Amino acid sequence: MNISEIFSPKLHEYLVEHSTPPVSVLQELAAENERRYPDSVIMQIGPEQGRFMTLLAQLSGTRDIIEIGTFTGYSSLCLALGIPDDGTILTCDIDEEWASMARRYWEKAGVAHKIASRIGPAADTLRALPADPMFDMAFIDADKQSYIDYWNEIVPRIRPGGLILADNTLYAGEVVDPTKTSDAVQGIRGFNDHALADERVELVLLSVGDGLTLARKKN
Ligand SMILES: C[S@@+](CC[C@H](N)C(=O)[O-])C[C@H]1O[C@@H](n2cnc3c(N)ncnc32)[C@H](O)[C@@H]1O
Repeated sequence: MNISEIFSPKLHEYLVEHSTPPVSVLQELAAENERRYPDSVIMQIGPEQGRFMTLLAQLSGTRDIIEIGTFTGYSSLCLALGIPDDGTILTCDIDEEWASMARRYWEKAGVAHKIASRIGPAADTLRALPADPMFDMAFIDADKQSYIDYWNEIVPRIRPGGLILADNTLYAGEVVDPTKTSDAVQGIRGFNDHALADERVELVLLSVGDGLTLARKKN
């Protein structure tokens, strides 16, 4: 899902064309995704969201990131390009094959030393981490039914002033369509209410990509 299902395709094309294009390795990765995985259009974040996330990492001085949902590594690479050379990304997925394709591109882009992959259910990976604040940023982009669980594990592990991003929070507009009742859209609706009610953060739901919630943990 992407913004073109919420806004007109023409307007989406215009905003992509008026954003700095992705670096060549990202373009190659997106092209391989398109060739090998027809579903990648609903999996991988779009180029304008990738640029936004690189800029956000740079602007916030982020160093350490946790990502839930690697797929073939496009969003990890965007984030890696926005953090310093000694920055770290811990990215979680259940699929080994996708993670190895991701590593190929991280190496090509010269950022592989910043990124560690964990294969296995992300909730288990999160629960096994120390409970202390250790990340400046989180990006949640995996199974929608588990967003609340991920949020509950992540918020305590984010440093004060740090950011939590959650993807697909408009879910192609289905969040406001009562005839849509899939587990995924219900998971997103529940998550949006849950995050909003959490007094540890302040947040905004942005119409970037398929809806991107940007939450800042209060000091
Ligand atoms: C939307 S894709 C991530 C896209 C990626 N962030 C990008 O922009 O290229 C969602 C990913 O979540 C992974 N996933 C689904 N359930 C999971 C779970 N329980 N634990 C960890 N990863 C999971 C899937 O294997 C898939 O790669």
